[in-house]
Amino acid sequence: MGKKFKAMRGTHDLLPEDSQVWRRIETVFVDLCWRYGYGEIRVPVFEATELFERGTGFATDVVQKEMYTFPDKKGRSLSLRPEGTPSVIRAYLEHGLSRKAKVAKLYYMGPMFRYDKPGAGRYRQFHQLGIEVIGTPSPQADVEVIVLLWEYLKAIGLKDIGLRVNTLGCKECRERYSGVVRDFLEDRLDRLCEDCHDRFKRNPLRVLDCKVATCKEVIADAPEIGAVLDEECVSHFDEVQRYLGAAGVDFHVDSKLVRGLDYYTRTVFEVYHGATGVDSSLGGGGRYDELVRELGGPSTPAVGFSAGIERIVLALKAEEVAAGQHHLLDVYVASIADNSFDYAFDLAYELRKDFRVWLEYESRRPQKQLAAASKMGAAYTAIVGEDEVRNKTAVFKHMESGEQAEIRWDEAGSWLKKKLGGN
Ligand code: HAM
Repeated sequence: MGKKFKAMRGTHDLLPEDSQVWRRIETVFVDLCWRYGYGEIRVPVFEATELFERGTGFATDVVQKEMYTFPDKKGRSLSLRPEGTPSVIRAYLEHGLSRKAKVAKLYYMGPMFRYDKPGAGRYRQFHQLGIEVIGTPSPQADVEVIVLLWEYLKAIGLKDIGLRVNTLGCKECRERYSGVVRDFLEDRLDRLCEDCHDRFKRNPLRVLDCKVATCKEVIADAPEIGAVLDEECVSHFDEVQRYLGAAGVDFHVDSKLVRGLDYYTRTVFEVYHGATGVDSSLGGGGRYDELVRELGGPSTPAVGFSAGIERIVLALKAEEVAAGQHHLLDVYVASIADNSFDYAFDLAYELRKDFRVWLEYESRRPQKQLAAASKMGAAYTAIVGEDEVRNKTAVFKHMESGEQAEIRWDEAGSWLKKKLGGN
């Protein structure tokens, strides 16, 4: 026997039952983005390494430790994208999207790659959906982005979600605050974990986000950003909070929220799931007013978010939202007599105009076919034998309740539509 292969650690296959949930997660997102006026952008999965070093940030864990980087045949350094934002900005500049509209509103979906330690909700190839609004400093844009994420997660059925927001101030305020935090931590380094020593050197603000208990104790007394924010940054954050309230979004301000990427200025936010916890966010983002310039463009304010599909699926499972509600098949058509197959064939092709239909290729014993239908997750089995052929009907058996009804062929479509509702 030849060698057996397995999916690489931190990657996973999506089988049909899972893909169905994924497709719904994607469809609801696309539909909402359309209604908010966003257009789709698709960017490559690999780019020049330097794009992420400059974009995601050279000092971040993502770039320092987690990128899949390799030379191509010409010796250029390429990396699989660890996130979408730098690529979207590169494309925005490369295609002069600023000339097409004052503000570009883009959405995207696809795989991202981070060489992280795999665990619950943590993969090496994971999938994000996200949006970026490029070209406006308005707090209204921050709010639109946050509301879209919030409404989206609710639209797919999640109830137990929480939102935390914070401001890191503009570039100047952020630098000032970073200095204040550095001074504060300098005297307390001996009480910080090993990772935080490293963070302290690269970006002291990241220490504020540490989840290690001893670090949390130190951080509890850290100075808050409020004291160093300038008037404009204060008023920007006030506006964001005011409009979030007006939009009916529940949120709390978490002055320790920093996020793991270095490009953020002013608003940052994260949505977490009650069951899976604050430490593993469903999605997050913020404003990044310096990134376009950092990537060679003119000074252009922007804001966006990304959410992780695997994490959304876990949260849906924890709330049992998807369980049992979505069938892979609407109807399994079972011919049970030798001379009923042609009739079953015609019925199946007729029903396929509107429904997902499995036609069993051979006439088999009814019990075997019903067992197969239920294994496949069919909502109904349409049984046709000699009587049904004669009467021009089919017996529709509801697989969950066991209820059955003989329905005329010419009424089967409208009857099923009513029964299946929005499924
Ligand atoms: P991020 O916080 O690095 O932000 O990732 C966003 C989401 O991706 C996380 O909330 C999480 O759901 C998911 N995620 C991240 N890493 C993993 C992993 N290893 N396994 C599974 N899921 C993961 C960004 O990526 C920014 N681009 C967001 C943004 C857009 N900011 C402005 N615009």
